[in-house]
Amino acid sequence: MDQTALTVHQTARPLGFPTAGHFAFVEAPLPEPAAGCALVENLYWSVDPYHREMMDDVPGGFALGAPLEGRAIGRVVASRTPRLAEGEIVFHRRGWRTHAVVTPEEVRLLPRFDGVPLTAFLGILGGTGLTAYVALTRIARLAAGEDLFVSAAGGGVGTAAGRFARLLGAGRLVGSTGSAAKAGHLVREVGYDAVFDYHEGPAAELLRDAAPGGVDVFVDNVGGPQLAAGVGALREFGRIVRVGTISQYNHPDAPPPRFDHADIVEKSIRMEGFLVSNYRDLQEELYDFAVPHLQSGRLASDETVVDGFEHIVDAFLDMLSGRNTGKIIVRRGS
Ligand SMILES: NC(=O)c1ccc[n+]([C@@H]2O[C@H](COP(=O)([O-])OP(=O)(O)OC[C@H]3O[C@@H](n4cnc5c(N)ncnc54)[C@H](OP(=O)(O)O)[C@@H]3O)[C@@H](O)[C@H]2O)c1
Repeated sequence: MDQTALTVHQTARPLGFPTAGHFAFVEAPLPEPAAGCALVENLYWSVDPYHREMMDDVPGGFALGAPLEGRAIGRVVASRTPRLAEGEIVFHRRGWRTHAVVTPEEVRLLPRFDGVPLTAFLGILGGTGLTAYVALTRIARLAAGEDLFVSAAGGGVGTAAGRFARLLGAGRLVGSTGSAAKAGHLVREVGYDAVFDYHEGPAAELLRDAAPGGVDVFVDNVGGPQLAAGVGALREFGRIVRVGTISQYNHPDAPPPRFDHADIVEKSIRMEGFLVSNYRDLQEELYDFAVPHLQSGRLASDETVVDGFEHIVDAFLDMLSGRNTGKIIVRRGS
């Protein structure tokens, strides 16, 4: 076992897009678990768009000069509590560090499903997949045959939303993403019918070409002009699921999207946002839905895996730049 631990600290608040200079890797002796705690050696980390929001000076945001938090999976390597045995694989939220001292209350023991890799618990079976599942089943209440538009379709939530929508019997699936390569993957592998690169013109025109007859449901991960385009494309009784606003996280001064508010009335549109943290009780339901399909091969998990904790900041910045396809996960180096 390593004798030192590394943590990542944020050292300055970014204005706009963050850089590696806003972070520092800090080395310290391996922490000793106190009575009632266990030491976890982390194996996988999740870096997420919400981390960018936490880099700002906001309530609940990251403190400067202190270890950052995030979702991680690790192995208990030393324990001073009978509730966490050495060797146990646990999920916790004290990520961005090679080792974490945790209490039993802070961790979740992960179930093991034959043929399903641990990374799935940070992706399609974790908060990312749960977000897509809640968006479709609870907020949109997607019905079989309904047509769907998903923005940021090539990311973790977007790929899970596309794959789940197919399993739920969706009709035409349209997505937006940031490159032709990602668009190709979405059509070939994920099951989207048409995907446009939002860099290639006004979102409203691109969406009109991809979904000439409109859509019933819009799962919006992006906000901005794509949100306005989605309002225009929705049919009567359409639903907009507001999942995220990633187009604004690095551009807080960007003007809010402009759309015809009369559309909301005249097309009887419902727009509803949600936070996945309020739907944790659906975790078992997600396992029941997704695991048999993962095991049968009807469902796959889209992941970009980055090797080595020393690359966690690069992975985070790459995700903000759209270099991931599917859920981005950092894996401990050997
Ligand atoms: N409500 C909730 O509880 C909840 C939970 C999880 C995630 N979220 C939100 O869901 C969204 C997706 O999260 P994720 O974890 O699945 O991340 P992700 O989609 O895997 O990664 C972020 C993606 O956003 C795209 N992007 C970056 N800047 C953009 C811009 N200016 N305009 C359009 N697209 C841009 C990039 O892909 P391109 O190649 O397409 O540019 C990038 O790959 C985020 O907004 C996140 O905050 C919400």
